[in-house]
Amino acid sequence: MADKQFDVLVIGGGPGGYVAAIRAAQLGFKTACAESNPYADPKGEPRLGGTCLNVGCIPSKALLHTSHLFEEAEHAFEGQGIKVSGGVSIDVPTMIGRKNKVVDQLTQGIKGLFKKNKVTFLAGHGSFESAGAGGYVVKVGNETVEAKHVIIATGSKPRHLPGIPVDNKIVCDNVGALDFDAVPKKLGVIGAGVIGLEMGSVWRRLGAEVTVLEALPDFMGFADVDVAKEALKVFAKQGLKIETGVTIGDTKVTKKGVSIAYTDKDGKEAKLDCDRLIVSVGRVPNTDGLNAAAVGLNVNERGQIVVDGHCKSNLPNVYAVGDVVRGPMLAHKAMEEAVMVAEVIAGQAGHCNPDMVPGVIYTSPEIAWVGKTEQQLKTEGVAYRAGKIPFMANGRALGSGDPTGFVKMLACASTDRILGVHIIGANASELISEAVVAMEFGAASEDLARICHAHPTLSEVVHEAALAVDKRPLHF
Ligand code: FAD
Ligand code: NAI
Repeated sequence: MADKQFDVLVIGGGPGGYVAAIRAAQLGFKTACAESNPYADPKGEPRLGGTCLNVGCIPSKALLHTSHLFEEAEHAFEGQGIKVSGGVSIDVPTMIGRKNKVVDQLTQGIKGLFKKNKVTFLAGHGSFESAGAGGYVVKVGNETVEAKHVIIATGSKPRHLPGIPVDNKIVCDNVGALDFDAVPKKLGVIGAGVIGLEMGSVWRRLGAEVTVLEALPDFMGFADVDVAKEALKVFAKQGLKIETGVTIGDTKVTKKGVSIAYTDKDGKEAKLDCDRLIVSVGRVPNTDGLNAAAVGLNVNERGQIVVDGHCKSNLPNVYAVGDVVRGPMLAHKAMEEAVMVAEVIAGQAGHCNPDMVPGVIYTSPEIAWVGKTEQQLKTEGVAYRAGKIPFMANGRALGSGDPTGFVKMLACASTDRILGVHIIGANASELISEAVVAMEFGAASEDLARICHAHPTLSEVVHEAALAVDKRPLHF
């Protein structure tokens, strides 16, 4: 007999797990959520919120905000007549302290949401023991828990490279990169993916000389080709040095910092010496401690739990959501899957459209997209029309002093249905929502073109891009 019984046990308290637990409890299930985060909250309990709230989305955006303000104060104020007497400086411990406060507030807030929704919080690592008539027996810390339904939301951890041990002081993954005690003079970054670009931007804005080393020959190959080209141009102008097509060799940590030997894109031997190094080469799913074999749970060679479109695993009543399954490793994707699974357990249809998950990179300018890129449409042989409008043609963007970038809309040549929207520019992270809503409702570009957009707003550029699909923009 297990120590505790629940209808639903969620393993992992990140955005996938805590949202699944809240939704399951709202639907009337007796629900528990197990979390084993080694970082304790002020009460000494593991912190909820997972990677996202503790060492991911939220702290990185807090630092991006502070460093953006710093850069504006250093470079943009003067042109608008604002004088900062005595110059601008950054107090890194204060910046990190503010970030930590935001993290504390949000992670504690989830405990409050658990109380409000009557979710039982179980502090401890969850691992399967057995499957029986009453459901699954899972060990959580020192207790055993029996649950009819199990939702696995154990997330992911940073991938490290062989021969480059991470100490999160000199050689850092995302955890250390969010906690520097000073601005490094020279910062190396391995991997020009989302973390590399965001964290590289934070420390570059604050004065570090940043070099990003990327293995693939193309920069941002996952993005629309025009966006990737514009981003590379803008980042280079900002002083972010990006080398693609490199092969990383020996890395030595010395008293002075780190020395990274690599081969550049022309096959020449090169060396990068820096004070600190961020290794951001992707993440791996957390499945190794689950004892999946005890119940016959199917885990693939990449460590992901194998699930279908409704996040059902190969076992009856066992589901998995978020970074631990296929698809992009994004908090909003994890939360959508979480709600879907709780509703499927309750006998409802459950909805999560993997084709409509927006992607955002919170650099400056921001980069956001949804749907297909131009190169994907070409590869798939889909005939399309494109409308592309620069922010330079927009009064609000000019007035705000940030007219970089553009909105690009791709629509089916025969039906006019919107197939993809790609934005590089200020507030792209917010602007993309209009495209997601339109595309979820199967909108044509003409639908957006005929909708009134407030003036003066950046959203007028989305409107103009829709007009441009039909070659009738009004302001460009
Ligand atoms: P996680 O958030 O990883 O949570 C899993 C939780 O399960 C963890 O708390 C872990 O301690 C716990 N756990 C693991 N195993 C067990 C076990 N056996 N028993 C009990 N508990 C366990 N995504 C975005 O959408 N937007 C962003 O801006 C963004 N920024 C990011 C910035 C950085 C620096 C990083 C690293 C990631 C970022 N992400 C962002 C990705 C986002 O953080 C993840 O996609 C998201 O957190 C995944 O949620 P999850 O619930 O699947 O997993
Ligand atoms: P990533 O997958 O975005 O980028 C990793 C990069 O490292 C790739 O460009 C890859 O080619 C490169 N790389 C891999 N091995 C390499 C090697 N040996 N040498 C040099 N380069 C190498 O992974 P990242 O940046 O670590 O982020 C992890 C996850 O976190 C991403 O999947 C992302 O979805 C999520 N995330 C999301 C954010 C957002 O939504 N704004 C912000 C930060 C992270």
